[in-house]
Amino acid sequence: MLMRMYDIIEKKKQSESLTKEEIYYVVNGFTNGTIPDYQMSAFLMAVYFQGMTMEETVDLTMAMAESGDTLDLSAIHGVKVDKHSTGGVGDKTSLIIGPMLACLGIPVAKMSGRGLGHTGGTIDKLESFHGFSTVLSQEDFIRQVNDISFALVGQTANLAPADKKIYALRDVTATVNQMSLIASSIMSKKIAAGADVIVLDVKTGSGAFMETVEDAQELARIMVSIGRMAGRKTIAVISDMNEPLGHNVGNALEVKEVIEVLRGNGEERLRELSLTLAAYMVLGAGKTKDYDEARALLQETIDSGAALKKLAQFVQHQGGEPLQVFEPERLKVAEHTLSVTVEQEGYLASCINREVGMASLILGGGRETKESEIDLSVGLVIHYKLGDYIKKGDSLATIYGNDQQKMILAKERLLKAYTIADAPPVKQPLIKAIITENDL
Ligand code: URA
Repeated sequence: MLMRMYDIIEKKKQSESLTKEEIYYVVNGFTNGTIPDYQMSAFLMAVYFQGMTMEETVDLTMAMAESGDTLDLSAIHGVKVDKHSTGGVGDKTSLIIGPMLACLGIPVAKMSGRGLGHTGGTIDKLESFHGFSTVLSQEDFIRQVNDISFALVGQTANLAPADKKIYALRDVTATVNQMSLIASSIMSKKIAAGADVIVLDVKTGSGAFMETVEDAQELARIMVSIGRMAGRKTIAVISDMNEPLGHNVGNALEVKEVIEVLRGNGEERLRELSLTLAAYMVLGAGKTKDYDEARALLQETIDSGAALKKLAQFVQHQGGEPLQVFEPERLKVAEHTLSVTVEQEGYLASCINREVGMASLILGGGRETKESEIDLSVGLVIHYKLGDYIKKGDSLATIYGNDQQKMILAKERLLKAYTIADAPPVKQPLIKAIITENDL
């Protein structure tokens, strides 16, 4: 039957459900250029207001996942696991989790993104290692996972190209913030990337995409349902993003913090979230059925020093300098520092976390546009966590930068991001909920 984009827009505008054929027609037509931006924009706005059923959302996800290359990881032995965060500030868990799982022989074949806007990206962080390459051929990628159980590359240009095009259009037509569109965007890439088990870290709070727990839970449910329908074991952990994860924000600084955790130290919530996500990946891989045992196995990889050595081995395999893992002072951090002292005494009561991410971006640690060059050496170290008591004149944070003007701007931004009060805030639990297939 001949289809017309006009009729499909009209149908969605009237809140009718679209068939699988109609959804594939839209996705394929827009990807190959036969459907123009203006019609796709109208369609996305109709979806924004009328929503999509679960069935439509699954069809949209699969159409986007099939719009380009899909990775065949069948040559990798064992159950392949992947994790995905919906984006946050100071989130460096992938670089802690990968080596731990690899030590247990669980294959981690991961594709990660770069940072955009106020959120950071794993690929940028890894480039802090001198010589590190985030580009591997598919053969080398598979060989490395079979050899050392861990490889991490940037997203290839032709993975879910429909998502790339649709996302760019959503970004400029005020249609980003719609559950079905977000869920299908994330899950199409995860499904195309080929893992058997997907653990999702759905962030909630002032530094996250979903500010409320209710919205995060709904998004998590949709994504777990999509995973199940696509035959992938999917678990979502809903975690707090009302302040940066750990102390460090900025690429090389974050890598230093990863090394701290793998040395058995590091900030408590960063360690805890990394172990929680990794434990669900261990369960998903079928290594054990017992959560506590999974945690103990992971802890042992840190205590024995094996996970740190695995990070060094991984860095070396991808062309980086492994000595920087054992001597992190060799990682290049900006030479100029500026202390952010506070004028008031009291409890650190709240944080507009997005603004902390923006402070790092202003220093040059993030991108304004996809083409921007970033400075891997800049960032912030936040010395206090929400609920801590801080005295007048104490240093809330240290800014690392290469440009005095930008450092002053970042300091102003950071001071505005935090409030200090006489009473301590209600402590936010780190893990807000876990959504598995059984909860659907
Ligand atoms: N991350 C994505 O990849 N897509 C979205 O729509 C939102 C966050």
